[in-house]
Amino acid sequence: MSNPNLLPNALAAIGDTPIVRLDRAVREWNGKPVLANLYAKLEFMNPGGSVKDRIGAYLIEDAEKRGELKPGGTVVEATSGNTGVGLGMAAAIKGYKTIFVLPDKMAAEKINFLRAFGAEVVLTPTSAEPTDPRSHYSVARRIAKDTPNAFLVNQYDNLANRRAHYERTGPEILGQMPEIDALVAGMGTGGTITGTGQYLKEKKPSVKVVCADPIGSIIHEVYTTGKQTKPAQPYKVEGIGEDFIPKNFELPMLDAVVQVADIDSLTMARRLLTQEGLFVGTSAGTAVVAALKWAESQGEGARGKNVLVILPDSGDRYMSKLWNDVWMEENGFLGAKSPRMPKVTLIEGAVTPYGLKL
Ligand SMILES: Cc1ncc(COP(=O)(O)O)c(C=O)c1O
Repeated sequence: MSNPNLLPNALAAIGDTPIVRLDRAVREWNGKPVLANLYAKLEFMNPGGSVKDRIGAYLIEDAEKRGELKPGGTVVEATSGNTGVGLGMAAAIKGYKTIFVLPDKMAAEKINFLRAFGAEVVLTPTSAEPTDPRSHYSVARRIAKDTPNAFLVNQYDNLANRRAHYERTGPEILGQMPEIDALVAGMGTGGTITGTGQYLKEKKPSVKVVCADPIGSIIHEVYTTGKQTKPAQPYKVEGIGEDFIPKNFELPMLDAVVQVADIDSLTMARRLLTQEGLFVGTSAGTAVVAALKWAESQGEGARGKNVLVILPDSGDRYMSKLWNDVWMEENGFLGAKSPRMPKVTLIEGAVTPYGLKL
């Protein structure tokens, strides 16, 4: 095709997401002015609405090249939802069947999104330990073994995941923002932060790489002490934090792991919409708060530093939770910093729209 504006398919629209300066939501933290400049990479602007679009097509094409995925095959994966969407897009275009295994804490929107692709969805108890045969990792492995012509993507241990970010996300960021001083992102599989961080450090060794970790995840303890003494505890943020250490992790490469409480993540995710106009998911809130806490920990050293925060996914898949005051209240997340959403006025004769709770 000679006209570069005409892309061959949706997969060609992945990446080259914009970076925007954050302002009102990050002017102060803990009552003190924020000395660093915070920027956000809008990964929700990928065609499937998340950073995971980047690995969906990449991992499928990598498996095709290695002969692990053959025409008419079935793609099987344990996912918190977004990787399923990324894989679902590539599978739709290339004609593969898909089976996705999700922990049951994931928002209903993600589950329905995957079903809408035509994927078979299997839910597992979130509390099951990784080695439990009922965990989403174990169930995905079993399904892949029992399904003829199946390919288990295994985004956790498949190193093509971080390679996708090393080859594409890293150069993209450095090209867009050569003045970057620090990268802040959550870790689920670790692919984003490890691949991108490794590239940035190679090309600009002064860049600091900071992991945003929800309280309850094991990453902080393993990073700071070198061992895991207790199992992961439940938390509400989706897609980041871990209950085991995937092969895509490279903890020694990190400069810091910053813990963030659910309430701070969710409050910030709402503020990113009301004060920055950015419609993002829960893990974006975690990443921005981690950036603020990290900048605070640097004291005067943070002055004028350019910190890039990855905002992984779109808010549309959290309407039943983050933007549902009933769920927010039930979990103790509403308060002075996270007020209720405005009321809806019904003029006489107007009916309550299907599904709208007033
Ligand atoms: C919402 C969300 N944020 C962040 C991540 C973390 O990305 P990575 O798996 O590359 O560490 C994920 C991964 O599933 C996610 O779904």
